Amino acid sequence: LGIYLEGALGRSPDLPMSYAELERQGSAAMDPAVLGYVAGGAGDETTQTANAAAFEHYGLLPRMLVGASQRDLSVELVGLRLPSPLLLAPVGVLGVVAEDGDLQTARAAAATGVPMIASTLSDAPLEQVRQEQGGTPGLFQLYPPADRELAEHLVHRAEAAGYSAIVITLDTWVNGWRPRDLQRGYLPMLQGRCLANYLTDSRFQALLAEQGGSGPEAVVRLWASLFGNPWMTWDDLAWFRSMTSLPILLKGICAPDDAKRAIDGGMDGIVCSNHGGRQANGGIPAIDLLEGVVEAAGAAPVVFDSGVRSGVDVVKALGLGATAVAIGRPHVHGLAIAGQRGVEHVVRSLLAEADLTMAVDGYRDIAALRGAIRRV
Ligand code: FNR
Repeated sequence: LGIYLEGALGRSPDLPMSYAELERQGSAAMDPAVLGYVAGGAGDETTQTANAAAFEHYGLLPRMLVGASQRDLSVELVGLRLPSPLLLAPVGVLGVVAEDGDLQTARAAAATGVPMIASTLSDAPLEQVRQEQGGTPGLFQLYPPADRELAEHLVHRAEAAGYSAIVITLDTWVNGWRPRDLQRGYLPMLQGRCLANYLTDSRFQALLAEQGGSGPEAVVRLWASLFGNPWMTWDDLAWFRSMTSLPILLKGICAPDDAKRAIDGGMDGIVCSNHGGRQANGGIPAIDLLEGVVEAAGAAPVVFDSGVRSGVDVVKALGLGATAVAIGRPHVHGLAIAGQRGVEHVVRSLLAEADLTMAVDGYRDIAALRGAIRRV
């Protein structure tokens, strides 16, 4: 109502109120190479486009006269009671999007109560990123490096810094075929950006010393040789489990059999995601895979991301069984437009739309949404 009242007085909001406008303003705010990296995806981006478009194949059945004047959007996720079912997906280039992008995003998490999944690839060390998240719980995303000791260091640092869970991303042990970046030869990490967690790590420094170099080129070379872990297999679940007593979620799981194997192997949850279509093209829209993953995961929580662009999308993913929903590009566009305030705006708009949709369609809480989605 506040926005309409302002409008009646001739004042309209200075921040975008639709995804199309968010994308338009965000794209204009970013340097072309950065925009290519953020907005681009694998191949001709058909999977990326389909991720968002596939939401149109699902609809929420409206129910009337249920007394939904008060809604409860809170959820429980790996032992955390969260005020809303939204998370900020890990994004590893925030420093190139905005000055102190990681810290600004962390402050938006603090202000909104929406947890940030902090990427391994950040311009500020994970301890500082955690500190800026204030009273909002945080999750740490690990790209398991090829050096096991370094992986263990990062996880132990995340534990000590007060993160509540570890998200291990599995679909990025090699970089995807991304024409927009290939055309420019642009990869922010190879320009030494986003490597703060490595540079502040004693194991990384020891490896650097062993290698006999210390300049920026030596750092990037060492990082590139360690970043992905191509040898990982299901046998490594035992290693993951041995690293920490924190809950572990595996990100990048789309196949029901993989979800079952992860949970049977001692993992605490799944992030059903195809990396926003950034890693492989020719795939299946992630939302079409969610129900199968939820069923296979049994009682374990499933976070969903890839293609969520509106509050209605959030509601649909919850209705299809997600415990919580994460956004990637939307909050990055918000960051590009207005820093912390832009991220907060995106989060609040999505949650307001989700809440209003549940109000209109007669759903009081997230449990009530289960089974309320129809294929259209
Ligand atoms: C990502 N994503 C990602 N995932 C991850 O586990 N670690 C990371 O460092 C990154 N980095 C990253 C950078 C950029 C620029 C983007 C856009 C995405 C993937 C991210 O967590 C999430 O899976 C997708 O962004 C979700 O899809 P949407 O919401 O962007 O469609």
